[in-house]
Amino acid sequence: MKKVLLALIVLLILYSCNNSHNNGYYSEIDINRQVDSIMGLMTLDEKIGQTIMYSGDWNNTGPYVTSDNMKFLKEGNLGSMLNVYTAKGTRELQKIAVNETRLGIPLIFGYDVIHGFKTIFPINIGIASSWDLESVHEVARISAEEASASGVHWTFAPMIDIARDPRWGRISEGSGEDVFLTSEIAKAYVKGFQGKNLSNINTILACAKHFVGYGAAQAGRDYHTVSIGDNELRNVYMPPFKSAIDAGVETFMTAFNELDGVPATANQYVFQDILNAEWGFSGLVVSDYTAINELVNHGYAKNEKHAAELAIKSGVDIDMMSGAYRRFLKELIIEGKIEEKLINEACRKILEAKFKLGLFDDPYKYSNEKREEEIIYQPEFLESARKIASRSCVLLKNSNKALPLNKKQTIALIGPLANDKKNILGSWAGAGDRNGKAISIFQGIKEYLDDSNIMFAKGCDIESNDDSGFDKAINIAKKSDKIIIVLGEDYNMSGEAASRTSIKLPGIQTQLIKAIRNELPNKEIILILMNGRPLDLTIEDSLADAILEVWFPGTSGGLGVADILFGKYNPSGKLPITFPRNIGQVPIYYNEKNTGRPISKENPKEDYKSNYLDSPNTPLYPFGYGLSYTSFEYSETNLSNDIVNESVIIKASSTITNNGDYDGHEVVQLYIRDKVGSITRPVKELKGFKKIFLRKGESKTVVFEISAEDLKFYKNGKLLLEPGEFEISISPSSDFEFNKSFNVVLD
Ligand code: NOJ
Repeated sequence: MKKVLLALIVLLILYSCNNSHNNGYYSEIDINRQVDSIMGLMTLDEKIGQTIMYSGDWNNTGPYVTSDNMKFLKEGNLGSMLNVYTAKGTRELQKIAVNETRLGIPLIFGYDVIHGFKTIFPINIGIASSWDLESVHEVARISAEEASASGVHWTFAPMIDIARDPRWGRISEGSGEDVFLTSEIAKAYVKGFQGKNLSNINTILACAKHFVGYGAAQAGRDYHTVSIGDNELRNVYMPPFKSAIDAGVETFMTAFNELDGVPATANQYVFQDILNAEWGFSGLVVSDYTAINELVNHGYAKNEKHAAELAIKSGVDIDMMSGAYRRFLKELIIEGKIEEKLINEACRKILEAKFKLGLFDDPYKYSNEKREEEIIYQPEFLESARKIASRSCVLLKNSNKALPLNKKQTIALIGPLANDKKNILGSWAGAGDRNGKAISIFQGIKEYLDDSNIMFAKGCDIESNDDSGFDKAINIAKKSDKIIIVLGEDYNMSGEAASRTSIKLPGIQTQLIKAIRNELPNKEIILILMNGRPLDLTIEDSLADAILEVWFPGTSGGLGVADILFGKYNPSGKLPITFPRNIGQVPIYYNEKNTGRPISKENPKEDYKSNYLDSPNTPLYPFGYGLSYTSFEYSETNLSNDIVNESVIIKASSTITNNGDYDGHEVVQLYIRDKVGSITRPVKELKGFKKIFLRKGESKTVVFEISAEDLKFYKNGKLLLEPGEFEISISPSSDFEFNKSFNVVLD
């Protein structure tokens, strides 16, 4: 009887919400009122229940919920779940929350929708290589369309960790090494996932992760210690997160690592002082997977109870998987170790998110099988995946115009990834069907060539020492006009827990290309690479005539890559990350600091200078680099004036001319250097980019505006604009010499 009465009260509250808003849109005041009413009915246990998240580990037929989780769910000790999807599966779980718990509060379902849900786009480092914010937005929009139709309310994306160490597997999941590029991309992802209004059925909550510094794991080993100073933290690792907030991101995830001795998941400085107080973020914070009880392994919490105390005090609202909140929060309150208001605050934020999603209007809104059937794999989504796959490719080498191909040539297609439909999706491939819908490069090429013009041999595996396939590969190579070799990594070699100490091609793949080159010294070899990190390609660069980096290009990847090979799309990708010559140069990134003993270009090997005995300092392929089938000429950088202050901006421009033989896109980049600072500044910093399209023979003038805001940096927690000289250049990549300067003059 009591239960029926309560359910009636909640229904009444919900009825009053239904009448107080317009088309599912709640004002902040409405939400506060409704949340207050519901919280007024909740027991402490129920409030704690909202802070608990468990996984519904996926099995072949649907979410597999352990009997324990089912018990917690029925008791109201579960506010959200991860790894749960499909309209049917989520509806069933939601029914339990709504019908079998005392207050019927709906669950939120979260999932890692990283570079697509069913329709899989290139991996994120590939998407970033497009330098095309519209494409990033489109990826997130389509991902949200599909995920929301499959019961998902919340994606744990975008991952916006700056990463400069290719040994780290998760470099594949971010947007590279640069602060400005990652910050712009962060906004596009957030806006794409969350759309205009979260109450719309095709939008999902985005999550800025991992706050903060995770990409700086020492030695590139996942989950490892991070050691960065506060100035670097604020100037390099934090700006993308601030940018996500500016774009309206609703949620944040903690990072696994520690920061200067304090694990991020219990770090009051980053969560309370910066995220909440400085940046005014009032949304939800979720811990990373079991990161709360990992505070014990870090040696920061005495035991799991202490870990729960530290995390809730730092402002972590949801405990993903560690169970520490479930077991200890109540006890901690009873013992007076934490205040109940911390639970109230966390619970309030969780309920607010549920309101914003419209789950109190209709808990089953995202769990509609008919909609799911209609939305998933729509032809235009697959077409978009094809387009974005080609935009993400980076042409690293193209000697003697080996590319594009013409349709009359006979091709020998070789390599373990040439006819692959599994790895092509990359790691973190959402709910994508490996081997199912994906189109291999072989299939993509067949769209352009008659069967009689293409021969295939695998040559070897990605990772094994068996060279018995070499002979067949060499034989077909001999009979062809051109050779295409598709090499790379297994998809599992990047992503979480996938660090490598070698960044060379695994197995005997390099021997395969060597063997073919030895037999056929004059035949053109085109190397296509699928990988989740910058690789050491020094040998391959000396063997291949053309190299196309396609990353893991996704469901329609084979078609997107073929479009590039046959010139339907002129490559326009540029590297969002430096490719070293060898592992010994790591970490290597373009926006490094100068040293007291920098080398000179003229004499790089000079003794007692900052160089190596056995390698140049320069990378094999620099940040911002990528070729096109056409060529672009840049005029000198022009400046509108030579002074910037808080009220005066400067306009920098350059005229770009397509003086080659094809129409094409070009990513025009603006770099500055702050010559002298009260703390040292990087030798170059990207401050703007524009992707333009030029027909052959066409010219366009590209203008960038630089304001005082663009020139500020953090020192000891303060954002400063310092007077002095700045160098500036508009350039096709980060490999250039500055040729103009201006001054910041303070009023
Ligand atoms: C751990 C990863 O670090 C995080 O990025 C992900 O969202 C969670 N697992 C959930 O899968």
